[in-house]
Amino acid sequence: MSQQAHPHEAAEPETPHLDFAGTTPYEDYVRADLLTHLQHTLSDDPGEMVFLVTTQVMELWFTVLVHEWETAAKALRSDDVPTAIAALKRSVRELEALNASWTPLAALTPAQFNSYRGALGEGSGFQSAMYRRLEFLLGDKSASMLVPHRGAPRAHAELEKALHEPSLYDEVLRLLARRGHAVPDAVLERDVSQRYEPDQAVEQVWAAVYSGEQDGELVRLGEALTDVAELVWRWRNDHLVATRRAMGAKAGTGGSAGVAWLEKRARKNVFPELWTARSHV
Ligand code: HEM
Repeated sequence: MSQQAHPHEAAEPETPHLDFAGTTPYEDYVRADLLTHLQHTLSDDPGEMVFLVTTQVMELWFTVLVHEWETAAKALRSDDVPTAIAALKRSVRELEALNASWTPLAALTPAQFNSYRGALGEGSGFQSAMYRRLEFLLGDKSASMLVPHRGAPRAHAELEKALHEPSLYDEVLRLLARRGHAVPDAVLERDVSQRYEPDQAVEQVWAAVYSGEQDGELVRLGEALTDVAELVWRWRNDHLVATRRAMGAKAGTGGSAGVAWLEKRARKNVFPELWTARSHV
């Protein structure tokens, strides 16, 4: 065979470009220089770096999840269920990656955690504004959760907006009503800045949906939401177990009772009727 037939076999592969007038296009896009210089540890303990970076990695995943669930909520508002399901399915993979990032912190001993715990002062993940937006999207609204963010205008404004917007679940229930399901007016017209409380009629709606066409759009939506709910519950439980291993029953740096408080939080079901309806199908 002639060389002309396979010119790529004869020539050396091109090497990447090295010369750029300013910063690299990679840097301009990823902002890696900024991102990799945000690791300001507070102690001399070498184990603190992975604690800080894991926390930062989780903040980035929270940001992606908020984006996906806002995309899903917006799509539902305009009756575009396929776009909503696609965003929810992406978020399921992202939740799996988020949960996998517990690994480096999952088995800290109390002595290891104590080596830098004091340096954290009153700092706690409880004060994460992005996690709070995530909870708000799931329906766990609470105006008092804005209080810690009074000193951070952008985070406060974003949270306040999210507080007064319908959650992802509110949008799902409104869609079910538009599809002819008997979602009560009291649910559809509820004050969306309040925590969503489970409703028996909504449970019946989901039971009816799940008794119908199994590969119908609404069952597929329900299952994508159930995957999300399960993985959020897993994040809470992995957090709970990591905390129990690292500090037993001591009080949290954020001022709570620690494990006992987290146990109460982890008991709450995300999208409650999607779980309870299963007893009636
Ligand atoms: C093993 C290390 C960790 C321990 C011992 C721990 C401990 C705790 C404790 C005791 C609380 C209750 C509030 C308080 O009094 O502070 C809490 C809340 C919280 N932590 Fe952690 N945590 C750990 C790692 C993380 C990481 C890596 C993240 C990622 C951002 C995180 C995010 C959160 C969030 C979002 C809350 C609030 C949960 C809610 O509002 O339901 N934690 N943590």
